[in-house]
This record gives sequence, structure tokens and C-alpha cells, in this order.
Amino acid sequence: MALRDNIQSLLAQVQDMKANSADELEALRIKYLSKKGEITALFNEFRNVAPEEKRELGQMLNQLRQQAESRVNELREQFEAKKAEAERLDLTRTPDPIALGTRHPLSLVREEIEDIFARIGFTVEQGPEVEDDKHVYGMLNFAPEHPARDMQDTFFIEKEIGVQKPTDVLLRSHTSSVQTRVMTTRKPPIRVLCPGRVYRNEAISARAHCFFHQVEGLYIDKNVSFADLREALLYFSKEMFGAETQIRLRPSYFPFTEPSAEMDISCNICGGKGCSFCKGTGWVEILGCGMVDPNVLEACGIDSKVYSGFAFGMGVERITNLKYRVKDLRLFSENDVRFLRQFESC
Ligand code: DAH
Repeated sequence: MALRDNIQSLLAQVQDMKANSADELEALRIKYLSKKGEITALFNEFRNVAPEEKRELGQMLNQLRQQAESRVNELREQFEAKKAEAERLDLTRTPDPIALGTRHPLSLVREEIEDIFARIGFTVEQGPEVEDDKHVYGMLNFAPEHPARDMQDTFFIEKEIGVQKPTDVLLRSHTSSVQTRVMTTRKPPIRVLCPGRVYRNEAISARAHCFFHQVEGLYIDKNVSFADLREALLYFSKEMFGAETQIRLRPSYFPFTEPSAEMDISCNICGGKGCSFCKGTGWVEILGCGMVDPNVLEACGIDSKVYSGFAFGMGVERITNLKYRVKDLRLFSENDVRFLRQFESC
């Protein structure tokens, strides 16, 4: 009898049912158990079965349907268990370390310089990086033909793109420009520190870069003397490089100070004995300084008969080289994390 054979063959198929995915399983359920499925079709045939066979075939059919349903359920449970396993959170796993950023060595040093001078009353002032000739050179007593203005040194800004016309807009080549901004807008006493980026048209190498950082200091009041300048710089040097540090001032020339000096500190790498860093001299130059030239005070609207002042300017890269023994200036702007990570704990 055809129905009996069909039941048996479907029973064999159903017992052997396998599925590789939840979708495959659903396809099997539809194939056998849906309204148009093969098992449902056999139930339809059952209506035509002779009464004497109804009891036995009816039992077989019910059994087939139960087997099919339980096999589908069994497979479904297996898939669900696998999925739950994959999704389960392992609360004992150690967390991924959170990558912390590090502060740039130049920022660390700049902030340290700011802190040291803050303790003797200096406040921080900023000025623009794109400046005009007047504030960078003119008011600072640079003669009109001074070589610092030369194209080789200063980056000039073209007013029209691609058109090289004489222009007085430029990228500041030193932070002394902030002095003139402060002096023209504030009345003495003035005690400011002006950190910032400066630009010079130089080929990039281990020792020079087309941009670097300076900190400018300016103190204007009644009766400010060269001795005050020396004491302020000695205090700074000892705070920055250690109490044993010594300084020496060598006569020098800057258009905006008179007298002018360059300051060396005893080499903090060899302690003054002489090494390759200080070229065997025991001293390293760290800044330029001097008494603000009366011409500069007058150009900025300050009465030079009443007020005097001192100024100094130092390179942040240079101080950082000394403090952290970085030998190549380019490292500061390459942003190689292997370099930057070394300052994590600073
Ligand atoms: N502006 C100078 C430079 O860029 C540094 C400097 C020297 C600043 C003497 C000063 C100073 O304020 O008094 O080389």
C-alpha cells in the first residue's frame, strides 16, 4: 500500500534530518511540516484509507509527525545553544588596555618654563603667528635693511596666491613680536611670558627646522636693572636644571636690547667638565637677553625716561634637548609614537 510505504520512507528521512544553519532547518520544517509540506500531504491522503486500516495507519502518521517535530526542535535547540555560547560575555577576561595619549615633550617643557616664571609673577601672553613687519621688526628697532628681514630668513605671505609682490605680512620669526603687542596695549608694570611657535626659512636638518618654539620674557617697570635680569635668569636656570647650575652672560648684540647678552648654563650633561654636547667647553648657550632698548620703549609708547625693562628669549627645543637629551630636532615634529611614548611618565 502506497501510503504505508510513503510513511516509512518519510520516517527514515526525518530521523536522518541534518541542517547546517538555522535557515536550512527552517527549509526542512517547511518541506515536511508546513501546510503544503509532505507530511501534511500524507494526512490528506489518509482520508481515502479503508476503514480497517485507519487505526494502524493513523498511528503511523501521528508518529511520523511527532518524530519530525521533535527532530526539528532538537536541531533548533542545538543552533540556539551554539549562538548563545558565541554571544556569552566572558566577565573574567581582563579588559583591553585603554591607550592613553602622552603630552608632547615640547609642551611639557613649555609648561615647566611657564610654571617657573609664574612663581615670580610672570603671566602668559599670546600673539599672532601671522604678523606684520611693524610688530616683528620695525618697532623692535631693526633697521629697514636688516638682514633678518631678508627673504632667506623670513616667510612672507603672498596677498594673492601665486603673486609675489612685496608684502609686509609674514610668519613671525621670533616671539619678540609679542613684546611689541603687549607694550602697545598695556601700561607698565608689565611682567609677561610669551610662548609660541616661530618660523624661519631654513632647510630642515637635525639641528635646524623651518618652525620651532620660543618663550619670550619681558619685564618693564621703574628702576629695572641688569642685576634684576641676571637674578631672574639665575633663578630660572636653577629651577629648570638643578640647584648646582651656574650661568654666564656674554656680551652680544640684538637690535631691541642695549646692552645685550647671550646666556650660557653650565652643561647639565657633563656637569661642566666638558663633553660632546657642550663641545668640550662645559657651557651651553640657552638664550638671548638684554635691557629693552629705549627706542623700543618709545616706539611702543612707553616713556623711556620713567621706565626701563629687561627681555629675554629662549628656544624651547634647545631646553628640551638639554633636559631630555634629544639629539635630532626633527623628532619633535614627526610624531613617531615610539619617541612620544617615552614621555608618558613625565
Ligand atoms: N628674538 C631673539 C631670537 O629669536 C631672541 C631674543 C634675544 C629675545 C634677546 C629677547 C632678547 O627678548 O632680549 O633669536
